[in-house]
Amino acid sequence: MQVVSISSLKGGVGKTSVTTGLASAALAAGIPTLVVDLDPHADASTALGVSPDDQLDIGRMLRSPRRAHLADNVVPSGWVEHARINGGANGRANGSTNGRTQPGAATSVLDVAVGSAYTGIYDRPDLGRRDLRRLSAVLADATNYELVLVDCPPSLNGLTRMAWSASDKVTLVAEPGLFSVAGTERTMRAIALFRQEFAPKLSPAGIVANRVRSGSAEHTFRLSEMESMFGQLLLSPHIPEQANWQQIQGAAHSIHHWPGDSAKNAAGLFDTLLQNLLHPNGAAPAGTVRNRNLR
Ligand SMILES: Nc1ncnc2c1ncn2[C@@H]1O[C@H](COP(=O)(O)OP(=O)(O)OP(=O)(O)O)[C@@H](O)[C@H]1O
Ligand SMILES: [Mg+2]
Repeated sequence: MQVVSISSLKGGVGKTSVTTGLASAALAAGIPTLVVDLDPHADASTALGVSPDDQLDIGRMLRSPRRAHLADNVVPSGWVEHARINGGANGRANGSTNGRTQPGAATSVLDVAVGSAYTGIYDRPDLGRRDLRRLSAVLADATNYELVLVDCPPSLNGLTRMAWSASDKVTLVAEPGLFSVAGTERTMRAIALFRQEFAPKLSPAGIVANRVRSGSAEHTFRLSEMESMFGQLLLSPHIPEQANWQQIQGAAHSIHHWPGDSAKNAAGLFDTLLQNLLHPNGAAPAGTVRNRNLR
C-alpha cells in the first residue's frame, strides 16, 4: 500500500482536483483505492459523490483512532456505481471494503473516508507528536487498499502534517504563477524539515503543474523556472486548464466517465500521471499495470 498526500501551502491551486483526477485514474485501472478527505471543507467527498449512511467521518475517526475501525466507516464513491452502470471500471466486480456492498456485485474499489468540519480541531500549528500520529493509527486498518490518497487543506498546520506523518510520499500541486512557485519552494523546505524530525521515510513524490494554459507566455516562463528549480520532481504530464472541470465536479462525476474529447484527453493525462507517481522509474512491478482506457 502506498499512502500519498496531495498538499500545497496555497489554496485553490487544484489539490482536490488532482486528488480526484488520480482517484478516477486509479478506479479506471482497477487499483483498490481509499481517498481520505482531510480538508474540513470536504470538497473531495462532494466531488466523489458519497452518500454517507451512519458511518463516522474522518474527524470522528481521528478523535478515537483505535476504536474507529476504518473498514466500517468508509463510504464507496458514487463513481463506482457509475462505472458499473456505464460498462464498469475494467469489468471487475465491486467489493467495497466496508462490507456494505452486495457480495459479488462488483470488484473495483474506490472508498472515501468522508471529510467534515470536525477535522478543523486538529488544524493547529502546535499539534503535538501524539496527535500527529492519529491518521497513521486510523490507516493501520487500511490493508485492503493498494493506494491511499490524502486530500489536504491549504496550510502546513496540523492536518497537513498529520497527513505527512502517515504518508510514504507527498505530491505538491502548483499553478505556474509567481506566488504558487514560491509557495511550492517553501513547502519543499517544510517537507525536508518535517522528514528530518518526524518522518524519515517520507519522500516528495513530485510537483504537479495544474491549470496550465499552453498559449500563456507567463505559464511557459514559470514552467521552465519550475523545471530548473525542481528538476525531475516536476512531474509529467502537466494538467491543462480544463474548461468543463467545474461542471464535471459539480455533477460528482469521474473524468473517466464524462463524455467528450477534452475529458477523454484529461483522463489520459491522469492515467499517465498516476503511473509516473506510483512508478517513478518507469517500471511498474509485474502484474500491477492494469491501466486501461475504459471509454
Ligand atoms: N485543471 C483545471 N482546469 C480548470 N479548473 C480547475 C483545474 N483545476 C482546478 N480547477 C478549479 O479551480 C478551483 C480550485 O480547485 P480545487 O478545489 O481542486 O483546489 P484546492 O487546491 O483543492 O483548493 P483548496 O485549497 O480550497 O482546497 C475549483 O473550482 C476547480 O474546479
Ligand atoms: Mg481542496
